[in-house]
Amino acid sequence: TMSLLESAKKAAAFRAVDECVKDKDVVGVGSGSTVVYAVERLAERVQKEKLQLVCIPTSFQARQLIVENNLILGDLDRYPQLDVAIDGADELDNKFTAIKGGGGCLTQEKIVASCAKRFIIIADYTKDSQTLGEQYKKGVPIEVIPLSYVPVMQRIQTRFGGKVQLRMAKSKAGPVVTDNGNFILDWLFPESKFDWDSVNTQLNLMPGVVETGLFVNMAEKAYFGYSDGSVKEKA
Ligand code: A5P
Repeated sequence: TMSLLESAKKAAAFRAVDECVKDKDVVGVGSGSTVVYAVERLAERVQKEKLQLVCIPTSFQARQLIVENNLILGDLDRYPQLDVAIDGADELDNKFTAIKGGGGCLTQEKIVASCAKRFIIIADYTKDSQTLGEQYKKGVPIEVIPLSYVPVMQRIQTRFGGKVQLRMAKSKAGPVVTDNGNFILDWLFPESKFDWDSVNTQLNLMPGVVETGLFVNMAEKAYFGYSDGSVKEKA
């Protein structure tokens, strides 16, 4: 039997795939635990409705999901324009700023989302917030070139306050290494009113920063699932 949170994720993912994907679409496939259900539904629809889809991965995990589910794997070289990208989020605020990168795949996720006509977020109800930091307590993930991590950490703390941590691996000694061979910093930002668009730009201008997990106004719509199987849309 499925846990209540898993049922919530599944409800959101299924609804989004049913409403936002049509025949002949090039579909961006996000990363994380919610996207697993989206891929399950894509595979079901390809089987039942004989849809022709090409799937563009946002991570090693997404690539594996696409291949294991016998979906057609594409890349941005061949398909630089996507019809839709579907991805999870760690939190989404009321101005449609999302924190992503809890799973460390933010850079590829942002690239793929930026290439899609429509970017759709799927998540359980715990990710739906008024303001960032309300529910997600692990901060903003930032991918950095390894040799720059200490200066970047210091610069972020000096400019914006809060505390920055180097994300450490759980099953090996040492830091998490991303799909791109980089490190992840988690910025535990202080409670204050940030202009996230400006923060994102300032972070991206720091030498060594590859990308931030702040997705400012990129999503067109979000589907939040509940444990009873219902889904709330936010647009
Ligand atoms: C991966 O880098 C993240 O951006 C995920 O999309 C995000 O953490 C959501 O993951 P879950 O679906 O597991 O909550």
